Amino acid sequence: MAAEAKQTCYEGSSVQSFQFYLEQSGEHKAILQCVHSILPGEFKRIGAGKSDLSVLGVGSGGGELDVQMLSLLQSSFPAVPITADIVEGSSQLTANFKALVAKTTNLQKTPFAWHIMNSEDYEEEVKSKGDMKRFDFIHMVQMLYYVDNLGKTIKFYHSLLKNNGRLMIIIEAAGGGWDTLWKTYKKELCVDAITEYRSSAEVVACLKSQGLKYEEHTIHNAFDITECFDPNSATGERLLNFMTAKDHFYQSFTQEIRAGMLDLLRNKCSTEKDGRVFFNSNLSCILVYA
Ligand SMILES: C[S@@+](CC[C@H](N)C(=O)[O-])C[C@H]1O[C@@H](n2cnc3c(N)ncnc32)[C@H](O)[C@@H]1O
Repeated sequence: MAAEAKQTCYEGSSVQSFQFYLEQSGEHKAILQCVHSILPGEFKRIGAGKSDLSVLGVGSGGGELDVQMLSLLQSSFPAVPITADIVEGSSQLTANFKALVAKTTNLQKTPFAWHIMNSEDYEEEVKSKGDMKRFDFIHMVQMLYYVDNLGKTIKFYHSLLKNNGRLMIIIEAAGGGWDTLWKTYKKELCVDAITEYRSSAEVVACLKSQGLKYEEHTIHNAFDITECFDPNSATGERLLNFMTAKDHFYQSFTQEIRAGMLDLLRNKCSTEKDGRVFFNSNLSCILVYA
């Protein structure tokens, strides 16, 4: 990627904001439920008859989900050696991931190759070397918002799949709360790391245009954003910061835009129950066939 390219990988305040969001949103718990219900069957198909297995995680962050998926794969094929490659440009999150691996007993024998760079640089590096390592399972969880070119990225990672392999993409669901917020306020929000908001709709359109075979599963999730409507709530502001990708929600938008966003969040992106407001953060899990 060119030197002047935008910085999309999380460092500093983005890392803290993301970790706060994970604590508040229950997102990993919802994803893990899906992983545990879908992946055992997928892994059986992927690994059938193979003498070694290779996994690639792209935009893996702190690796909380990777560690679970690798453990699941290992328990499906206890006698088969597994390698893990990770493409993640955030040095802070990679350090967290390494620390997590160090304390995960069953992964001590799994070799990890750490590619601390963004996906675009990895793609360039692999193509220039010409010897592409191929993978049985590639996953991209909540990261496709940040890549320069969606179609090119999907095509590249799909080309790295081994026979019978799967590419798993997890992304916000079409028509969900995030999709509604970011598309309604595109002009105000799509200005920094994310220049074009993508949900499962854009990914599915791209897979169709490339003629790739896939299946899609909905991951249901909702989280309490009631505090966002209290201007004195620090929790509310921190959630709004992450949801709008800003460091300071109240200083980043005019009073009119803020009021419009809050109204949209309450009335178009959420449901109310027992006086609490629950934001619709359904995700889509898309499994692309080799
Ligand atoms: C929302 S987080 C998701 C992290 C992890 N997959 C999870 O679900 O916990 C997005 C991740 O993508 C990484 N990222 C952003 N832009 C990227 C790029 N161009 N290439 C690779 N990773 C990127 C960020 O550093 C961050 O770790």
